[in-house]
Amino acid sequence: PTQIGISTLAAMKQRREPIACLTCYEASFAQLLERAGVEVLLVGDTLGMVVQGHDTTLPVTIEQMTYHTACVARGRQRALLIADLPFLAAATPERALAAAGRLMQEGGAQMVKLEGGSAIRETVRQLTAQGVPVCGHLGLLPQSIHRLGGYRYQGRDHAGADAIRHDALALQAAGAGLLVLECVPAALAQEISLMLEIPVIGIGAGVETDGQVLVLHDALGLYPHRSPSFSRNFLPGHESVVDAIGAYVQAVKSRTFPAAEHSPI
Ligand code: KIV
Ligand code: NA
Repeated sequence: PTQIGISTLAAMKQRREPIACLTCYEASFAQLLERAGVEVLLVGDTLGMVVQGHDTTLPVTIEQMTYHTACVARGRQRALLIADLPFLAAATPERALAAAGRLMQEGGAQMVKLEGGSAIRETVRQLTAQGVPVCGHLGLLPQSIHRLGGYRYQGRDHAGADAIRHDALALQAAGAGLLVLECVPAALAQEISLMLEIPVIGIGAGVETDGQVLVLHDALGLYPHRSPSFSRNFLPGHESVVDAIGAYVQAVKSRTFPAAEHSPI
C-alpha cells in the first residue's frame, strides 16, 4: 500500500485536508485504526497513563516506548508511525540521538516527537541533521506537569502566546517536520497553523489546525478516570470499534470535531 510520509502530510496541509491521528500502543489496534482511515499512529507516552496505570507520563522508559513502538510497527502497513521520546530522553542532544536510534532501529518508528520549544532547538537540529524526522510538541507539556502544577491551557495571556509563537518558529527553523499543539486557545492554534509551513496537529486546540489527535482510550471512552473535556467518546451509536474510529476520522475530515464544546477557549 502507498506509504503515508511526512511529504504526504505536507501535501494534505496544502490542500487543506485535515490529518487524522490517534495514539496507538499495540498491533491489533494499529491494523484497526488504519482500516478506519487514521493516517498517523502516535505511540504516545500517555502509555504510562492509559496502559500502565500511572498518574503521569513520567515513569515511562525508553525500553517500554521501544517495545510498544515495535508492537505497533508489526500492525502498521501505511500510516506514519511516530513515537514519543519519554521524560528526560532528550535532556541532551547525545541522549536524544541514542533514544531516537532505539525507537527507529529497534522499534520501527518513522518520526520521533519531543516536548519543548527554543530550549531544545539544538537537539532538534542534531536529530534532523542525522536523518531523524522530528515532531515538536508545544502548549501543555505533560512531561513538565510538576513544573506547570496541573493540566491547564497554555498561551492564554499575551506573553504566554508570544512564547508559543516564538517556539513554533524556532522548531520549524531547526528542522521539525510536524508540530503537536496541546491545550492552547483555538485562535492561537489557528494563527500558528497559518504561520507555519509544516503541518500542525491539535489536541484541545480548536478545529482550525491542520489535523487532530486524541488519545485512543479517550476516543473510545475506555479510560477509567476522567477523560479531558476537549476529547470525545466516539463509541456510542456505533456497532463496532472500527466504525467508531471511522466516525472520528470523518469528524476530523469534515471539521465537525472538535466542536465548540470541546474547545473551551
Ligand atoms: O503521549 C501522547 O499521547 C501525546 C498526545 C496526546 C499528543 O503526546
Ligand atoms: Na506524549
